[in-house]
Amino acid sequence: MLRKRMPVAEPYKIKMVEPLIMCSRDYRKKAISDAHYNTFLLQSSDVYIDLLTDSGTAAMSEYQWAGIMLGDEAYAGSKNFYVLERAVQKHYGYEFVLPTHQGRGAEHIISKLLIKPGDYVPGNMYFTTTRAHQELAGGTFVDVIIDEAHDATSLHPFKGNVDLEKLKNLVGMVGRERVPYLNLQACVNMAGGQPFSLSNLRSVSEYCSGQGIKIILDATRCLENAWFIKQKEPGFAHWSIAEILREICAYTDGCTMSGKKDLLVNIGGFLGLRDLHLYEKACELGTLFEGLHTYGGMAGRDMEAMARGIEEAVKEEHLNQRIGQVHYLAEKIQENGVPIVLPVGGHAVYLDASAMLPHLSQDQFPAQSLAAALYLETGVRAMERGVVSAGRDKASGEHNYPKLELVRLTVPRRVYTNSHMDVVAYGVGLCKERREKIKGLRMVYEPDSMRFFQARFELLEKKSNAIKSPRKNSACVSENAKTLAKNQR
Ligand code: F0G
Repeated sequence: MLRKRMPVAEPYKIKMVEPLIMCSRDYRKKAISDAHYNTFLLQSSDVYIDLLTDSGTAAMSEYQWAGIMLGDEAYAGSKNFYVLERAVQKHYGYEFVLPTHQGRGAEHIISKLLIKPGDYVPGNMYFTTTRAHQELAGGTFVDVIIDEAHDATSLHPFKGNVDLEKLKNLVGMVGRERVPYLNLQACVNMAGGQPFSLSNLRSVSEYCSGQGIKIILDATRCLENAWFIKQKEPGFAHWSIAEILREICAYTDGCTMSGKKDLLVNIGGFLGLRDLHLYEKACELGTLFEGLHTYGGMAGRDMEAMARGIEEAVKEEHLNQRIGQVHYLAEKIQENGVPIVLPVGGHAVYLDASAMLPHLSQDQFPAQSLAAALYLETGVRAMERGVVSAGRDKASGEHNYPKLELVRLTVPRRVYTNSHMDVVAYGVGLCKERREKIKGLRMVYEPDSMRFFQARFELLEKKSNAIKSPRKNSACVSENAKTLAKNQR
């Protein structure tokens, strides 16, 4: 029988394709061992479906590519800067815009500007680079997200909400002069891409403005957050995504943005501000660490592509497909009985590695082990978001043990089809079937900060072979890189 409603398809057709090659299991076994069981150290040509991140991995549209050709690479006053500035003003509402090379460039500047040594920076869960910059500026991050965010099974629709009581307790304890701002992340990454609600933001904003505490929005995935508000929060079903976005930003004093996510570009970001004085100070720091204020860390052409990305990203049909595909993957994975974080967020499906591998303790890095096993079994690359990502406590030197030990399957925007998602779901099911064979890991090289990027591991069955200094992962010359090069000749 014909279905009642027309199925929803991707709101684009494909103009250019990039070949994918799947290498053999034996080859993958060597590749993951050469990468020291860290998926960040794999060569991308050895990966079949790459779900490491949704950051900088989007497919740009023809409109964006056309914009690339309009790049004005003047050192000062590039016309593309003004196009970007207007797009940010129109959709995000911040009057002052400082382009940065990516999100962490903006985090660096705002942290240096607002945080004094000894300050506390509350946030709705940490993000790795954000917290690192807060600490670098002498601050201490304090988690004020609601408890439900730390529970992979809680079905709270807005797990990204700030717990106002936790925030008030912090301010009561340390004094409001020690709390320069609240860092509010949209679609909280480490919690599984969970949104906050507008009603939560309104009450948080009321409290913060009363206390003279700024709100700095991490707007990296704010459009996805706006989509969830439209879907789930009473009273917003008839608002457009653009209207909800404006409304969110209106309650905040500024934003840091990684354009590599929502904004459909491969590089770039910005700092958005309302206060002229703060902006002028940001420009001074920007000139030192990024570049002159009319390009910051970006080429003219990339600013044009990001400005055009903003216009495309606020369209509802784009977000319907984008988040719809993530939810499609989640459904397929759940059909195989694999535990995932619920509700499903906007950019990724998070496998609950502790539930899937109960035979591994957190010290044996279950999420890291599962990500390595997924690559071995299927060639799919995912990312650890558990104890390795959480790093160590600065004071005690102990691992930070997060309640969530997750593997993130992050879906790049406009890149893969649902057939790819079927393959991924199958691969995850295969890992579940073989889960008892998945061994734990021992960390044998650990960088001091952001350790998850370069840390090295070995399988627990082996005798420890700890190495102290980093060595480049160049031992294995990629089989696929050779094949691809040959095919292109
Ligand atoms: N904030 C959030 C919420 C992020 O997810 C990221 C990056 C950043 C800030 C930093 O932005 O990479 O442009 O400097 N997240 C990437 C990820 C790395 O894979 O989730 P950046």
